[in-house]
Amino acid sequence: MAGLATTRIGQHVIAHDEVVSTQPLAHEAAAKGAQEGTLVLAEQQTGGKGRLGRPWHSPKGTGIWMSLIVRPAIPLPKAPQMTLLTAVTVARTIREETGLTVKIKWPNDIFIGDKKVCGILTELNAEADRVNYLVIGIGLNANSVQADFPEELLSIATSLRIESGTPVKRVAFIQRFCQNFEEEYDHYLQEGFQRVKDEWEANSYSIGRWVTVQTISQKLEGQAIGLDEEGVLMIEDRAGQIHKVYSADVNYRAN
Ligand code: BTN
Repeated sequence: MAGLATTRIGQHVIAHDEVVSTQPLAHEAAAKGAQEGTLVLAEQQTGGKGRLGRPWHSPKGTGIWMSLIVRPAIPLPKAPQMTLLTAVTVARTIREETGLTVKIKWPNDIFIGDKKVCGILTELNAEADRVNYLVIGIGLNANSVQADFPEELLSIATSLRIESGTPVKRVAFIQRFCQNFEEEYDHYLQEGFQRVKDEWEANSYSIGRWVTVQTISQKLEGQAIGLDEEGVLMIEDRAGQIHKVYSADVNYRAN
């Protein structure tokens, strides 16, 4: 991308018109040695993947559908921090490019009001207990109008264009994202997780809300109170006991 002020992130772009999903293409590229920061982009995905095996609606030309390859030298348990870092970076980029107020719903959804505008799917390739590479998939509803969403998504999803009334310049958005990501990523690699944690908490949709969490072994109910030093969500139940939630899906309900 011409004029991109980064050293790695977005310096190599693999752009497609129509693909099934950018995620396997990014894995393929990473396995063949693609450089850190390589971005796989598509105008349209016919089989976009969401978290927990859900489909991700990715119609032509309306969104930013991209997968970023990074190779952080971090131990395996820290890999989820990269999802939180990505969420913080996307949220900041949306604020800067559109002026909209956005919130981050644990662990990886970007919300405007009570509707989701962006989802993040992080997939890991590891050797022993070290991260080999991560493919971070970002699906952002940029320029969709109401008619682009299927009926079942209308009440839960939105786009930057719907919220701001103005179409987003997608290339400029991606460039700003790459710059913000690299800046935050370099800081994280040198200084650690604290700044991401602070920004995540300051822009959290989750903190202060009552949540129910279904883990493999139990169903928890409580108030989300913050992240711990590792980036794990802490929930306080009605008895005042603190529970740590690693990777369960969080459902929100009225207090
Ligand atoms: C979620 O919220 O469930 C995560 C959605 C992630 C969607 C993106 S779009 C680009 C990349 N390719 C995919 O197939 N999925 C991710």
